[in-house]
Amino acid sequence: MVSSSRQIFHFIVNLAIMIKLLSYIYPITKKVKSDFNGTLEITWYNGKKHLNTKNANYSYGSLQKILKIGLQKIDLSQSKKILVLGMGGGSVIKTLQQDFNYKNHITAIDIDPVIIDIAQEEFELTKNKNLEIICADALQFMQQNKKQYDLIIIDLFVDIEIPTPFFSDSFWQDIMDSVSSKGSILFNASLHESDNKKLSNIVTQLNNNKYQVERIEKVNKTNTLLIAKLSG
Ligand SMILES: C[S@@+](CC[C@H](N)C(=O)[O-])C[C@H]1O[C@@H](n2cnc3c(N)ncnc32)[C@H](O)[C@@H]1O
Repeated sequence: MVSSSRQIFHFIVNLAIMIKLLSYIYPITKKVKSDFNGTLEITWYNGKKHLNTKNANYSYGSLQKILKIGLQKIDLSQSKKILVLGMGGGSVIKTLQQDFNYKNHITAIDIDPVIIDIAQEEFELTKNKNLEIICADALQFMQQNKKQYDLIIIDLFVDIEIPTPFFSDSFWQDIMDSVSSKGSILFNASLHESDNKKLSNIVTQLNNNKYQVERIEKVNKTNTLLIAKLSG
């Protein structure tokens, strides 16, 4: 009995190693259906797991690099509470914890229960006293939120689109109301040039509320990032 469970364990470990090695030659994909995000793909590629939709890299891979570039421009030393809107597979959480050694509290919101399961089961994201995961619509969550955060990361996509409400003045007012006095906002903005006007409106709204805004175009050759910091 003991020996057969050991054999099963060794078989699973060897299979995982084989999949990882094979992924350097050929990507290996498992598909999962989600009502909200369509078909999600968990793909082993070059020895690393990624989460993709039909047209977009959602977590790990390029998306993770893009958000890391944004985080490098933010002083996290005073941050006690971070809010992530759009948790996905949780790659920005791993970046914060592993690359920036961030040990304080993170609240992560995602509307899609399938994605939340994938984050926990496929990407070993573990809820604990420092990581709260909430399945909710980010728009409603922000309307009801009363807490203040030192950094709010906004990474809300459905495939390659940012849903229109996340460009609205009222959403951005709710965001600003939830930023602490020396806090920052990191917005993974759209991939589409047609959204430029909407982005400019957000920058104006932030400037009018005492935020210094840096807009970085074509980060990792694709996305625009907005980094907003309260001045004074
Ligand atoms: C690009 S992924 C986020 C990746 C993640 N930040 C990471 O670091 O791995 C975009 C996420 O936004 C979520 N999303 C889209 N609309 C949403 C909404 N209204 N409320 C909450 N989450 C939403 C999607 O379910 C998806 O998981």
